[in-house]
Amino acid sequence: MTDFEPKIIGFLCNWCSYAGADLAGVSRIQYPTNLRIIRVMCSGRVDPALPLGFLAEGADGVMITGCHIGDCHYIDGNLHAKRKYGLLERLVAKAGLEPGRIMLDWVSASEGQRFADIVTGFTDQVRELGPNPAVTDPCVKLNLMAAKAAAAEYRLRALVGKEEKLVTEGNVYGEEMTQEEFDRIMEEVVETEFTRNKIRLILSVKPMSVKGLSAETGIDSRIILDHVVALRQRGWVDLHEVQGNSPVYRAMEVQ
Ligand code: FES
Repeated sequence: MTDFEPKIIGFLCNWCSYAGADLAGVSRIQYPTNLRIIRVMCSGRVDPALPLGFLAEGADGVMITGCHIGDCHYIDGNLHAKRKYGLLERLVAKAGLEPGRIMLDWVSASEGQRFADIVTGFTDQVRELGPNPAVTDPCVKLNLMAAKAAAAEYRLRALVGKEEKLVTEGNVYGEEMTQEEFDRIMEEVVETEFTRNKIRLILSVKPMSVKGLSAETGIDSRIILDHVVALRQRGWVDLHEVQGNSPVYRAMEVQ
């Protein structure tokens, strides 16, 4: 494992972190070369589906850096980044990947040394974890693909977008929600969308019965049946054939 060099993707906000990386470069501050930088206008633009896609494709780690809280050039973009990162953390956990493969931090344009220290620390951490298991384990890859698809679902996007308002001002009826209530709802929706997308991906490879899906996923067949019913209502899954007494389902188009 000692000669393993991780491939790390870094999303850097244009106005602070990218300038910080630039400063580290012109100041000749040494840091590992494992980082592949993607410049974004604001850390708040990093959709959780993007890091999940890179992890599914075999990146060993993904870091996101933005302006310090209060310094975002779009006022509250980094606060959005924090909330989106919360969803990313949940989906990475759901996919069974080590939490240490992702990170979010803040670096200003004048913090070249801090940028180098963060990259060095994260690279060491990911090197310690070893290669991304998605490269050799199809189950982890499938989970990450399901997590990526779940991140793109409207229900999760809407919840992340409304978190601040729901826990501070309440819903349209003025009913306030505690952070604990919000987290519980979020966890339920993450679980539901992750499982439904996983079922859809499995069925896109091979039509299966509810029993087969239950054996494949380790999820109780009654829960699988509920999801299959919901997936048929969404038009994502349809009846393929009936084998004996068992309906066999197939996925409709997977995007
Ligand atoms: Fe840097 Fe928003 S502009 S985090």
